[in-house]
Amino acid sequence: MNYQNIINEIEDEIQVYFKEGKVADYIPALAHINPNQFAMSIKLLDGTSFNVGNTQNKFSIQSISKVFTFTLALQLYGRSLYKRVGHEPSGDPFNSLIQLEYENGIPRNPFINAGAIVTTDTLLSKYQDKSFDYILDFIRTSANDFTINYDKEVYSSELEHGFLNMALINMMKSYKNINNDLEKVIQTYFKQCSIEMNTEQLANSMLFLANHGVNPITNKVLINEAKAKRINSLMLTCGHYDASGDFAYKVGLPGKSGVGGGIVAIVPGKMSICVYSPKLNKQGNSLIGTKALELFTTKTGLSIF
Ligand code: DON
Repeated sequence: MNYQNIINEIEDEIQVYFKEGKVADYIPALAHINPNQFAMSIKLLDGTSFNVGNTQNKFSIQSISKVFTFTLALQLYGRSLYKRVGHEPSGDPFNSLIQLEYENGIPRNPFINAGAIVTTDTLLSKYQDKSFDYILDFIRTSANDFTINYDKEVYSSELEHGFLNMALINMMKSYKNINNDLEKVIQTYFKQCSIEMNTEQLANSMLFLANHGVNPITNKVLINEAKAKRINSLMLTCGHYDASGDFAYKVGLPGKSGVGGGIVAIVPGKMSICVYSPKLNKQGNSLIGTKALELFTTKTGLSIF
């Protein structure tokens, strides 16, 4: 299959959608991003890559970081992690407080904000002040790229305007589901969200999930096969918040989005894909990114179904 031709075609076909959607503005540092960007990278297990658009342009990975922190927490705690965070889709917005209250401070899954804050808290229990370094190091190792870092401006902007996340962590604390200092947990969470990467780096970093937990380029085992299956399953069912069903229906692949405009998707046994386009649909997922992935699986037949 000529993947380069296919993604070139997709780049042409998505142009009509640039008038739709809206860049995230509840994090002021993200509100100024040029909305008319598109990039798509594919990385095959043998290391071959295909790129279209500005694939060197770095952006804020935001909630895509939740895949990495969940991987680390699952590695550390195994199934006992599920006493503190579930594995069911929420059907609610990513920063919703309502469900969290009637479910006694136990978030539905690790990919909504509350769930990711809990997984970050579990990492603090083990690594304390070194937690962010540990997360960053894991991402660098997964991507095999030690230049990756976080964007201090996005970090401070989130810290200054993160009122809903503060509400979420305080509510969970009141239900005794946060064990470390609230400030430290939320700072680590915002730092991981503000990590910046381009589509090539993100596609590289997720390749282990297409290959049973092993990065096929470096041969590094990042998680075991059984856990890699769980992570992919959760990406399929919970990776796009209250649009997870819609994403599974249209794309048919495990995927995870972030309000920065990135989406990563996994074709098990074959490749990882990253798309970037910052205008979002109303659930906070890249509108053109979703469209591009839908076109990709329709044209190639490479969905999991
Ligand atoms: O905590 C937040 O709201 C952001 N740092 C991350 C949210 C996000 O990416 C949700 N994604 N679609």
